[in-house]
Amino acid sequence: MSVTEKFLSMEYGPAPEDPREALVWLDRHARKLGHFIGGSFRPPAEGVYFDTLDPSTGEPLAAVAQGSAADIDAAVKAARVALPEWQSLTPHARSRYLYALARQVQKHSRRLAVLETMDNGKPIRESRDLDIPLVARHFYHHAGWAQLLPQEFPGYVACGVVGQIIPWNFPLLMLAWKIAPALATGNTVVLKPAEFTPLTALAFAEICQEVGLPAGVVNIVTGDGSTGEALVKHPDVDKIAFTGSTEVGRAIRKATAQSHKKISLELGGKSPFIIFEDADLDSAVEGLVDGIWLNQGQVCCAGSRLLMQESVAETLIGKVRERMSTLRVGPPLDKAIDIGAIVARVQLERIQRLVDQGVAEGATCWQPPALSMPSRGLFFPPTLLSNVHPTSTVAQQEIFGPVLAAMTFRTPREAVELANNTVYGLAASVWSESINVSLHVAAQLKAGVVWVNSTNLFDAASGFGGYKESGYGREGGREGLFEYLEPEWFKRAPRSETKPIAMDQPPEQEIGSPAPPIDRTVKLYIAGKQARPDSGYSIEVRAADGQLLGEAPLGNRKDIRNAVEAARKADGWARATAHNRAQVLYYIGENLSQRAEEIAGRLAAVVGKAQADAEVRQGIERVFSYAAWADKYDGAVHNPPFRSIALAMNEPVGTVGIVCPASVPLLGLLSLVMPAIAMGNTVVAIPSETYPLIIGDLYQVFETSDLPGGVVNMVSGRSAELLKVLAEHDDVDAIWSFAGDAGSAVAKSLSVGNLKQVFSDEGRAIDWFSIEQGEGRWFLHHATQVKNIWVPYGE
Ligand code: NAI
Repeated sequence: MSVTEKFLSMEYGPAPEDPREALVWLDRHARKLGHFIGGSFRPPAEGVYFDTLDPSTGEPLAAVAQGSAADIDAAVKAARVALPEWQSLTPHARSRYLYALARQVQKHSRRLAVLETMDNGKPIRESRDLDIPLVARHFYHHAGWAQLLPQEFPGYVACGVVGQIIPWNFPLLMLAWKIAPALATGNTVVLKPAEFTPLTALAFAEICQEVGLPAGVVNIVTGDGSTGEALVKHPDVDKIAFTGSTEVGRAIRKATAQSHKKISLELGGKSPFIIFEDADLDSAVEGLVDGIWLNQGQVCCAGSRLLMQESVAETLIGKVRERMSTLRVGPPLDKAIDIGAIVARVQLERIQRLVDQGVAEGATCWQPPALSMPSRGLFFPPTLLSNVHPTSTVAQQEIFGPVLAAMTFRTPREAVELANNTVYGLAASVWSESINVSLHVAAQLKAGVVWVNSTNLFDAASGFGGYKESGYGREGGREGLFEYLEPEWFKRAPRSETKPIAMDQPPEQEIGSPAPPIDRTVKLYIAGKQARPDSGYSIEVRAADGQLLGEAPLGNRKDIRNAVEAARKADGWARATAHNRAQVLYYIGENLSQRAEEIAGRLAAVVGKAQADAEVRQGIERVFSYAAWADKYDGAVHNPPFRSIALAMNEPVGTVGIVCPASVPLLGLLSLVMPAIAMGNTVVAIPSETYPLIIGDLYQVFETSDLPGGVVNMVSGRSAELLKVLAEHDDVDAIWSFAGDAGSAVAKSLSVGNLKQVFSDEGRAIDWFSIEQGEGRWFLHHATQVKNIWVPYGE
């Protein structure tokens, strides 16, 4: 036998990690752990415990408390009490606590890694080399943000008490992603870990004690979905941050619709792994191993759909099978295994059910024939489903297991179409040796993270989060901090219907004199054309003194549908250069100036001369402001600690439905529509119900300003009814509702279908005449979503 043959025939010996320290830790707690509330562990109010099991053996590890509404209430109270003291600390002092947490995590990293593996079933190699180092990195990075907060986020304040609910796939890492930014920005938290994996969160609670974190700043309540639900519904929680299934994400959106809780959702995915014919196929296959078999495929951004260029498909499938045959499935504490245990029996059964369904729908199932599987515990072999039809269940539904669904494409264009053919939009991997092809494709993918020639790279400096039904909000980096902050003025603004702002100062310069009202009839504005309403009805518009000013069309469901279709078709606007968009906005500003006098004259009949003049004057300025912003609201380049850069691009959200404030008809509309279109979105706007005739003034301006048809559509009518249609429409990506509290609640509860982002006044009075409140980054932030494109460099 040659040396090579001998080498190749050698078997792996067992390489078990010693679990002793983790077991000592469990024993120290008598294998029974309560909630961590107000700085100490305490038994659950109702005295109920449940067992958390080691999925690789089925043996119980410890009993943990089942949280009830009473426990949640105690934790929220503790967090509320701790808030003023936590916020009164200097940024430096808060930073020191985060730094101490990072150091303490590092000091206990091995114990945490072992505990994680025992509770979750993931290979120790992963918990030791990926999960726990990233946890420490997250706290270090955010210790820095805590220090820099006032300099980098002037005018922003913490949300307050934050409720956080996390899943079981990366238990401690998800905790870090939630807690580090929340604390860095001055919030206090109540976190509920997943029922299958509560242990490392409780170990972290002990770390909070060890570093002397003030009591109540971090509270941890264990339990199942009902505990999470109690947290979501608690009236004294200011924000909910959730990671988990899309279904529960929807339930949380619905449950919080009537409240003013800010929410961020990190949900499911069905991420494409795209391999072009010019890719380095061997590297791509290695990437794939990481992409779909990391953590047994129980990863929200798993590269679960393999899209192969047809010319290399056969070769690739061969290579993938060959590589799959070398994967080792076994006890997760063994340092030389690749695939550990599935977290729970229900998950294992779900994976099997979906694979069976895939086969029933025509896919070919392949699993390594000579694979040795452990005789006990919850294990699932690495699985390849090929000949998968793009519309079949396994190509569309998240399996959350070690199952890859493969299909082919011919051209880059087809690859993009297939990749985007899903309700999700979390992540994507693109493999090609051509940087041009990779970046061209990356730009077109609807996903929050795109990895070029790489996969599953994460870093605290780089935001992670989805497009479409993968949720909204980012975790990590500057973009992630916004989720835990609010403009200070907004938090303080009184909650009441938006009212016209009383202007004690006379306008600096008068715009003409009020023209006598002329009876006018205006039309809707759809696809760049004036359109009659489908209903055939009009509504009378009256001046403050009751005089008839004219008639505005009564738009209905059909008009909204037409407007949305037009907005959708105008998506070329997103691809126009920022310079181009700026030019169009400047032109709008110019044309508005030319008509200033007549517009102000007509508006004066409704809002009075002083307000009308101010609206026009400031409206013009606002348009110029956003023309200026159009090519300046840049993204960033993140520098993660490996040989990659992450390009954080600000991309438009898509089609935005906007309900404009009633009492500031012109300035309100411009303050909302302009930031949206400056960033490349297309808009369906419902103008002020008080003065919908403003449409007529504006379409004349738009028509003469080179604004492409369909970029701005305006449909007047009964705002509440039209908002409902917009919120339920699956082709609308976001709703901006700025006509009071009732509208906000409707927008939130009806937008759950496709999980639209909702941006609203939350019933607060906004001073549209103030630059601080009426324009700037807050609006631009909502007009964009960040896509992080990771590009490796070096050999
Ligand atoms: P899940 O979404 O039910 O659980 C996530 C967390 O939410 C857990 O802490 C759970 O206790 C809590 N929760 C459940 N119902 C709740 C409610 N009504 N209100 C508030 N909190 C609630 O996910 P589950 O059942 O563990 O897994 C089911 C499927 O979800 C998986 O098969 C997978 O497809 C997907 N999933 C996706 C994740 C992701 O990161 N994208 C993470 C976990 C699961």
